[in-house]
Amino acid sequence: MNNSDKYLNDERFKGIEPFQNKVWLSSPTMHGDEQDWVVDSIRTNWVSTVGMNINEVERICAEKIGRKYSVALSSGTSALHLAMRLCAEKVYGSPATGHGALEGHKVFASDMTFDATVNPIAYEGGDAVYIDTEYDTWNMDPIALEKAFELFPDVKLVVIVHLYGTPAKMDEIRNICDRHNALIVEDAAESFGATYKGIQTGMFGTESVISFNGNKIITGSSGGMLLTDSKDDADKIRKWSTQSRENAPWYQHKELGYNYRMSNIVAGVVRGQLPYLEEHIAQKRAIYYRYKEGLSDLPVQMNPFDEENSVPNFWLSCLIIDKEAMCKQVRHEKDCSYVSEPGKSCPTEILEAIAAFNAEGRPIWKPMHMQPIYINNQFVTVDGIYSEGTGFFDIGADIFERGLCLPSDNKMTKDQQDRIIKIIHRCFV
Ligand SMILES: Cc1ncc(COP(=O)(O)O)c(C=O)c1O
Repeated sequence: MNNSDKYLNDERFKGIEPFQNKVWLSSPTMHGDEQDWVVDSIRTNWVSTVGMNINEVERICAEKIGRKYSVALSSGTSALHLAMRLCAEKVYGSPATGHGALEGHKVFASDMTFDATVNPIAYEGGDAVYIDTEYDTWNMDPIALEKAFELFPDVKLVVIVHLYGTPAKMDEIRNICDRHNALIVEDAAESFGATYKGIQTGMFGTESVISFNGNKIITGSSGGMLLTDSKDDADKIRKWSTQSRENAPWYQHKELGYNYRMSNIVAGVVRGQLPYLEEHIAQKRAIYYRYKEGLSDLPVQMNPFDEENSVPNFWLSCLIIDKEAMCKQVRHEKDCSYVSEPGKSCPTEILEAIAAFNAEGRPIWKPMHMQPIYINNQFVTVDGIYSEGTGFFDIGADIFERGLCLPSDNKMTKDQQDRIIKIIHRCFV
């Protein structure tokens, strides 16, 4: 019996039909305008890394977020890399070799995130110190950040993420960073359109980044954007992203460069998507509140946000199971199992059950300090530097253990979502 049959034949799930068409976690939603701008770029022969689509996408994003400048790049990851290098050079100077701008330096980083947030620290030879997560927004805990500055007062750079489209506690984080003269690289890859105290995410870093990856709230099929208020910074990023050519009649290079610029074809897709950002956010918001209501009688909570001060873009709806309602779940390096118990469940059971019915969920991002690649990096909780035996509580590990991302595709129908809600209920029977 394969894993799907195990659930489809389980008495608890009797009467629920599998989905004919897969319900996705978060898939691209094309509207037609994208095709027009892509065709336009091909028809006019502007298919490379210059053209009107790029210019327009940069203008619209800067305007929407409220930044002075924006540079369209090939991905959120490349934007984060250049943001990290630029900020590293601002605080530590330019390395003679042009690379390794963080060699010998630590950077404080969000711990519960996708590894693209933090890998640029390693690209530049730096050492990430992971900062634990708080329960209110599932983002970097300002109290743990303050603790980290007590322990490592020389650190001058912090990278923060707004997870799943929920703004972090930016006032507190900003305040702490300002007191320690540290710059912020803001990873708003998942939170385009979300606001904190009325201000768009993408406004909070010295350099900020959004992503147009295929699963994001709007997509270019791929692509990213760096946002800044400094013309010098924007010019530098444009130069670095196009192989750092000097202004000379031949290919002249003084600085290390990259091929990181967005193509005008990809920009055509983004340009076609931009008018639909608010529509996608409204659809995702409706999905979040339908889950919240539909699951309100279960021992679970939705991913939280600061209702007074922030408006998420609701990119992914997630839930966390109450501690007392968790059945035993064991996760190894690459596989996991659980022991079913009446009245209880766990992320593994729910994810397997919805997958059996042809819907896609996902575990919470596994915290960086738990990843084999970063296992030797330091991890700071509100109590201090964590290691086994300290007895310090690890909030990121707890959310990873009890939380999961629900199918959040904006094309999911109400009927499909009702069926997913029903499957989750049956997991607790
Ligand atoms: C939090 C976060 N940061 C960075 C990235 C990287 O963006 P990209 O895939 O465009 O490189 C992603 C998504 O892919 C992300 O979710």
